[in-house]
Amino acid sequence: MIGGTTKLFGLVGHPVTHVRTPQAMNALFERNGLDAVMVPFDVAGADLAACLAGLQRIRNLEGLVVTVPHKMSAVELCRDLTPRAGLAGAVNVLRRVGEDAFAGDMLDGEGFVAGLAAAGHAVAGRRICLVGAGGAASAIAVALAERQPAKLTLINRSRERLLALHERLRSRFPALDVVIGEQVGGHDLVVNATSLGLRADDPLPFDPEQVGPGVVVAEVIMTPEITPILHAAARRGAAIHPGRAMLDGQLDAIFRYFSEDGRIPARQGRGP
Ligand SMILES: NC(=O)c1ccc[n+]([C@@H]2O[C@H](COP(=O)([O-])OP(=O)(O)OC[C@H]3O[C@@H](n4cnc5c(N)ncnc54)[C@H](OP(=O)(O)O)[C@@H]3O)[C@@H](O)[C@H]2O)c1
Repeated sequence: MIGGTTKLFGLVGHPVTHVRTPQAMNALFERNGLDAVMVPFDVAGADLAACLAGLQRIRNLEGLVVTVPHKMSAVELCRDLTPRAGLAGAVNVLRRVGEDAFAGDMLDGEGFVAGLAAAGHAVAGRRICLVGAGGAASAIAVALAERQPAKLTLINRSRERLLALHERLRSRFPALDVVIGEQVGGHDLVVNATSLGLRADDPLPFDPEQVGPGVVVAEVIMTPEITPILHAAARRGAAIHPGRAMLDGQLDAIFRYFSEDGRIPARQGRGP
């Protein structure tokens, strides 16, 4: 039951009809006997700063999950950032600090590699192609770079974001073979980290003719579960890794971030 002692959490995104994190977090709050609830907030890009300024003033609002399209713009609205959020240039979780500010962290990359590991897909020593340079892609790039791939190729539509990500990775990981590319062919693991595939009429994020047996094609999009690029890759004989694994991989990390240090009290009369 939601009451006056309940800690409030939100998910801020646009659109939010497809989100699954609130359902999963509410189940975790329930299972752990914590007095907390998470609800989705549909906030357009131009309204993010005003929205966060208002939410900071709600004293029982403890934290937010930040999703498309706000992960990069929310960085500027945080008082503190973890090093990995600073490097990724993006946040996906915010936590209250003091009475009127949020601190930010980025758990997308950790979730992605945890999901890969759970499915038995290695990163170390593999040639990896990452398509996308937005918030999710930047976080995934950092998490991959930390795990010694043989090579990391970056591809993105807009050149500016691509160059900025490439430069950040080069300065933080000088020993990493990280290059800007055009084609996904010649890699062991190809990751679609763009938002292409979310809408039925989206073009494919890359040419599926360039993948085949022996290649893993991984996705960040969760709905539909098997996106058009995964269908096309599977038809070509590639192994596929759906986006749901990334969320499963990071739910525990999000839950810990929100609940550590006793930030959420137990429900009255109901321990874990
Ligand atoms: N499974 C999970 O747990 C999980 C977690 C986080 C995110 N996601 C998913 O990851 C996706 C990306 O999220 P994000 O936060 O990184 O979004 P974002 O910061 O807005 O970045 C979007 C990316 O997609 C590219 N893109 C968008 N439209 C395009 C088009 N028409 N043609 C070519 N490229 C296009 C963008 O390229 P430009 O730079 O050129 O604009 C950019 O690289 C979303 O679908 C989100 O649902 C999944």
